[in-house]
Amino acid sequence: MKIISSIEELRDQLRGQLRTAFVPTMGNLHEGHLSLMRLARRHGDPVVASIFVNRLQFGPNEDFDKYPRTFQADVEKLEKEGVYVLFAPTEKDLYPEPQAYRVQPPNDLGDILEGEFRPGFFNGVSTVVLKLFSCVQPRVAVFGKKDYQQLMIIRNMAKQFALPTEIVAAETWRAEDGLALSSRNGYLSEAERAEAPILYQTLQQVAEQVRSGRQDMKAIEQQAMDSLSARQWQPDYVSIRKRVNLQAPTAEDLDNKAELVVLTAAKLGGTRLIDNLEI
Ligand code: PAF
Repeated sequence: MKIISSIEELRDQLRGQLRTAFVPTMGNLHEGHLSLMRLARRHGDPVVASIFVNRLQFGPNEDFDKYPRTFQADVEKLEKEGVYVLFAPTEKDLYPEPQAYRVQPPNDLGDILEGEFRPGFFNGVSTVVLKLFSCVQPRVAVFGKKDYQQLMIIRNMAKQFALPTEIVAAETWRAEDGLALSSRNGYLSEAERAEAPILYQTLQQVAEQVRSGRQDMKAIEQQAMDSLSARQWQPDYVSIRKRVNLQAPTAEDLDNKAELVVLTAAKLGGTRLIDNLEI
């Protein structure tokens, strides 16, 4: 595997490749990321991964400085997956000057759910992803459904800018007890790790209520928030949305059997976890 940090060198290395499959990451790779690499391999060749902890998507009080950086271990994992190039730019490589041009997702998608609690997050994500796409020029790029809203925003961005990159969605990789794999799980204490699967169980309960025909979405969401709060959680949201645009379903949508997803973000101790489940 070639490890490349400069954009110029990356372009030289990938010149003429028409079927590149790309997986952008922020490193600290776990089995979930590796499943994205395998899916990428099924959709293209060569597989290119990136590791870049993108300052633009972290708020001032978020964990940019303490975000786990495990470069050597990541390299070994990617080598085993047969990744052809790892693009690992420094901040100077990717942002040689302040990134003044930004991608601003529409408010109705970028400022809800995660965007409400992490202002500017999707501006930072979309900007770096567009820039990484411009460097790698992939035909296909793989994103996990664990970051459901991110996936949708990137997909819409690719469509609206007519990018020549197909966005492929990968299912969420879960531990045996149901906890969605995330680099941030590493922040959990042993006791918190034992409690963490409750988040997914809460989503499953919400999904069951909806599948059983209940239509009082606000009450279902509130019950789920209350049951998390009654334990040690501080939920930001539990929200049932339409899969198509992440807006709340109207009574008419429910009558028309709109496809739904329930999304959540909640803090356990100092760690903020997100998860979702298609209903
Ligand atoms: O999902 C992530 O790891 C990041 O948001 C991404 C897509 C690599 C952009 O920094």
